[in-house]
Amino acid sequence: MTDIDIYPTRDLSYDFLGLRFESPFILAAAPSTDNLEMVRRAFQMGWAGAILKTTSIEGTRVDLAYPMMSTFNHDGKKLFGMGNIDLISEHHIDNVEYNVRMLKKEFPEKIVAASIMAGRKEDWQRLVERLEAAGVDFIECSFSCPQGNIGEDPGKMLAQSIPATELTARWVKEAAKRVPVSIKITPHVTDIVEVAKAVKRSGADALTASNSLQALMGIDIRTFVPYPQLNGRSTYSGMTGPAIKPITLKTISEIARNVDIPILGTGGASTWSDAVEFMAVGAGVVQFCTAVMHHGFRIIDDLKSGMSQYLDEMQFGSMKDIWRKALPHLVTHDELPRRTVRSHINDPLCIECEACYVACRDGGHMAIDRRPTRIPVVSEDRCVGCGLCEYVCPVEGCIEMRVQPMN
Ligand SMILES: Cc1cc2nc3c(=O)[nH]c(=O)nc-3n(C[C@H](O)[C@H](O)[C@H](O)COP(=O)(O)O)c2cc1C
Repeated sequence: MTDIDIYPTRDLSYDFLGLRFESPFILAAAPSTDNLEMVRRAFQMGWAGAILKTTSIEGTRVDLAYPMMSTFNHDGKKLFGMGNIDLISEHHIDNVEYNVRMLKKEFPEKIVAASIMAGRKEDWQRLVERLEAAGVDFIECSFSCPQGNIGEDPGKMLAQSIPATELTARWVKEAAKRVPVSIKITPHVTDIVEVAKAVKRSGADALTASNSLQALMGIDIRTFVPYPQLNGRSTYSGMTGPAIKPITLKTISEIARNVDIPILGTGGASTWSDAVEFMAVGAGVVQFCTAVMHHGFRIIDDLKSGMSQYLDEMQFGSMKDIWRKALPHLVTHDELPRRTVRSHINDPLCIECEACYVACRDGGHMAIDRRPTRIPVVSEDRCVGCGLCEYVCPVEGCIEMRVQPMN
């Protein structure tokens, strides 16, 4: 196969929350799902489902400020992290009800979900009732907009309060007669497991973990105005994209290890292998947002063909075989094995860049020495096996960490 061949897609269908997903790849609540025409196109291109951008009851004020995007560029990679100061949708429930009806009529096999936010009990419940009547497949509740919640306590996220999370989730669940409800939480809490337990106690069916991270995206060092810049002012952004993936993996895995509740993964997934990682720590399905905003709906082809090839290579019968596979390997620091490890440089692969020498000299244990040939050598006495050199080496496989035999 050449690089440009697309691996034939196998059956990636998946049962989750009592629903049949064509594949585990769905669109997160975001600008890509705020427009009927765009969701139609996404479905035609092969996305399994979409969570329509968070909506509210008619009359709710949604006061957007532009420009709303900024980026965290890293190592020449644009949009390594993306910041936004977006709020919920300007389209209220009447518009979203219509979109749900149209999408379910045109694409009955796709999963059409809607995200909601409200301030008062009656509004939360009314939103649920109206979406159920419109034929939605499941409802996601945004308890974690980085710009805060509607109603009291502006700027604070609902999911940062355990009692408020439990109470509000109960209201929603009380109103939901037909469809599952997922609560979208934030990693900005002291103990994510306690939040997950509160959601479970409320009777909600699932958790969406775990939204954007609040961030200050950067500062113009000539004007000192942070980004995004709005006439000399700025505010904190919600950061998304590849930069936040490790935090999402931690959040999902912590919940999955401690609370028995289905999880929809969101936050930093861009590729099929990211999706494998999300599922391996306990996500049932994986939501994509920044990757689509950056590269378009067409990434679904890579997601499906990459996942198909991976499943074949691993000889997995279905994606269920990936689920929670990483969790048994996660232990506390106390439970880690204590071994003697030493770095080993494979001389024929060394390009003599000395990155390992410099890193070890100034950030490790001064355990790599220069030699006249310039291929560095590891001192068995000084090396502790920290692993830094392996990660600064630009050549794959040149440096490996070897476990020493026990004496
Ligand atoms: C511009 C923008 C708008 C968003 N709007 C919403 C929203 O209305 N409701 C919501 O629950 N999440 C919203 N999100 C968060 C996404 O649904 C998703 O959880 C987040 O972007 C992390 O995933 P990603 O790294 O794949 O982008 C938004 C994200 C972006 C970038």
